[in-house]
Amino acid sequence: MAAAPPPRMLLVVALAVACCLVQLAAGDTNGVFEPCSDARIQRGDGFTFGVVFAGYSSFFSGQTQLSPCDRRLNLASSAQLAVFRPKVDEISLLTVNTTTGFNPASVGGYMVAFAGRKYAARSPPIFVSNSSFTVSSFTLVLEFNKGRLQNLHWKKDGCDACSGKSNFVCLGKQTCAIRTQSCKNQGPVDCSIGIQLAFSGTDKHESVLNSWYEVSNLRQYSLYGLYSNLKDTLSGQFNKFF
Ligand SMILES: *[C@@H]1O[C@H](CO)[C@@H](O)[C@H](O)[C@H]1NC(C)=O
Ligand SMILES: *[C@@H]1O[C@H](CO)[C@@H](O)[C@H](O)[C@H]1NC(C)=O
Repeated sequence: MAAAPPPRMLLVVALAVACCLVQLAAGDTNGVFEPCSDARIQRGDGFTFGVVFAGYSSFFSGQTQLSPCDRRLNLASSAQLAVFRPKVDEISLLTVNTTTGFNPASVGGYMVAFAGRKYAARSPPIFVSNSSFTVSSFTLVLEFNKGRLQNLHWKKDGCDACSGKSNFVCLGKQTCAIRTQSCKNQGPVDCSIGIQLAFSGTDKHESVLNSWYEVSNLRQYSLYGLYSNLKDTLSGQFNKFF
């Protein structure tokens, strides 16, 4: 597949907790900082990937979903881009603040996570927001094989956390959504997007990445408890039940 550089005009709408370090942080041996380039990582490296927000069909050419790095998609005209650099095999929560102007519904309401050029990987598009519903909590699994990203996929979180809450709706029996009219600007809830990361597979030395295992174990308790510093902001809507 002919991958091209990323659409140039995309705005970076959000920065990760540990994003965009210009110099390598201690323990980070990965010199690739650009989401449309190929990296081979080891545990403890930073790993750069992007999340593009756009309409569902913008990610396809005919029936084929292309990498957002592929110029044929022409995402530059409408899409928004967030770039993150989390540490490989560390449990991280990335956030995209949507209270200060960026409205995912207005750019089409779906997102795709991606990285790589020759070894391009992209997640399926996942619904974020439209005028009726907004989903704010996601889990993204980054799967590596010998240090190369093979696959990105979204893990359904289920609806346990939202059952019986008046601002929430359970979509498709597997995703908690907030009524968009309750979101900040129109309502009381901070609907900023939180993306929980999990790493699986192997690094370039064939060490096993196991934060995925940790996340699946922790989920039965409460992941949000791990991020007490974010609790008052990002997960304000969850405070009632965690
Ligand atoms: C919003 O998205 C939900 C879930 O994908 C869908 O059921 C609903 O029809 C959409 N509403 C509008 C107004 O597009
Ligand atoms: C988003 O930004 C607003 C304004 O700066 C802030 O009050 C809010 O706590 C932020 N939300 C998150 C999740 O960081």
